[in-house]
Amino acid sequence: MTIAISQPHRPVYHFSPPSHWMNDPNGMVYWDGEYHLFYQHNPHGTTWGPMHWGHAVSTDLIAWTHRPIALFPDELGTIFSGSAVVDREDTSGFFGGKPGLVAIFTHHQEDPASGLTRQSQSLAYSKDAGQTWTKYAGNPVLTHETCVDFRDPKVFRHAETGLWVMILACGQTVHLYTSPDLLTWTFASEFGDGIGSHDGVWECPGLFPLAVEGDPARQLWVMLVSIGDAPGSAEGSRTQYFTGSFDGRTFTADEASRTVRWLDRGRDNYAGVSWSDIPADDGRRIYIGWMSNWRYANQTPTEGWRSAMTIPRELTLETRGGELALIQRPAIEAERTGACVLSAKDIRAADVPQLLSGIQLDAYELVAEFEPGFVQPFGFKVRASADGRQATEVGYDPVAEALYVDRTRSGRTDFHADFAGRHTAGLARAEGKAMELRLLVDRCSVEVFAADGETVMTELIFPDPEAKGLELLAGPDDANAVVRSLTIYALTPEAKED
Ligand code: FRU
Repeated sequence: MTIAISQPHRPVYHFSPPSHWMNDPNGMVYWDGEYHLFYQHNPHGTTWGPMHWGHAVSTDLIAWTHRPIALFPDELGTIFSGSAVVDREDTSGFFGGKPGLVAIFTHHQEDPASGLTRQSQSLAYSKDAGQTWTKYAGNPVLTHETCVDFRDPKVFRHAETGLWVMILACGQTVHLYTSPDLLTWTFASEFGDGIGSHDGVWECPGLFPLAVEGDPARQLWVMLVSIGDAPGSAEGSRTQYFTGSFDGRTFTADEASRTVRWLDRGRDNYAGVSWSDIPADDGRRIYIGWMSNWRYANQTPTEGWRSAMTIPRELTLETRGGELALIQRPAIEAERTGACVLSAKDIRAADVPQLLSGIQLDAYELVAEFEPGFVQPFGFKVRASADGRQATEVGYDPVAEALYVDRTRSGRTDFHADFAGRHTAGLARAEGKAMELRLLVDRCSVEVFAADGETVMTELIFPDPEAKGLELLAGPDDANAVVRSLTIYALTPEAKED
């Protein structure tokens, strides 16, 4: 199935549904050479509604093939978020001794009369590499007496105990359960009371080990927790993370987790989790998020389809400024998909506009390194219109030591009062080091990876299709400061026209 990339704002290289509404990524699993991506999907409209699991597969995380809807609502409810695993040893007994795929998801039941909701966890399995799915006859496999918001199970196999572990959200904490067979679950522990942000309901948690500084002998566990939109928070919905240890049953947060840490400092990265079952010889922890915000997700100005995912990202734990931080880098190499349109080294800021003047692009990757000598804000204006009225500014302010994205004049902003704005994230300058800005620009988004993935800002933008200019942002005092390198790759469509 192909999608019409001529539709306004339809991303060129970010995943978006063929039609209708999409939210969270679900069931991300790697199996037999394919990355599976399922997603919250309403096939009846372009706003949130009765949830199904849409489906797509990719061999390279860039080009996605759309597949038929994988899971439909049934008598137990609609299909909310969840995960999928490879049941290699057939612990579930679904596969006659062979390996197969098991999806673990939330059934969401709403009583129309009372308006009361009930959420429980259920299974579906696939014997044909994810093409068709059968719901388990014994569903649901996990219920809760009192917890109303009881959802978004993420399951993984814990090597040391040999048990399956499920982490899921329950109100404003997460619960952990264990199971030998995916069918029967035993409560193990709860985490979240008195720690982290409680601005909104906790959703879509994830838990996985990461090697510290890439050293397998030093391992920490990372917990992702998305926080729902709350009217009191300026940012809307967003994702926090904790680091600590995990013994198979209990997660213990470390000292660093006493401070609230956000995964992404932009407005549009929510409900992201990581792929399961990436082969050990690859070893990456690859993450993808929903590139929107519940504050205005239902109102973004697209027609016939709505929402896209972030670029897949590799997550690592690295020390920055003396602290361990969760680092994100795009998990795709632009070189694989794009044509290099500019590659320059050691250019005076005053000479950069000349280099950029002929560039007209709507989807590209740009990597720039600015020498430490800059004293005024520097960066780029992307998706700039010829008349100078429209542009999204992405910059670094060396005095305030802050990264920012200003989408006040980025294009369509009128659909929600909270959309336009200048968003900032503190980012210390590393002594004597160039500041690297890596921008992934597409038809409805800009993702900024600053200081080699230390601070990331993901932001939706809705520029006019013809606003394709690119300009340097630099102050007059920095005319002689040097841009050490500047490389631009034009990125090509992931899908052809219908
Ligand atoms: C997060 C979320 C999940 C839920 C799903 C429903 O965005 O609210 O908690 O499972 O969306 O579509």
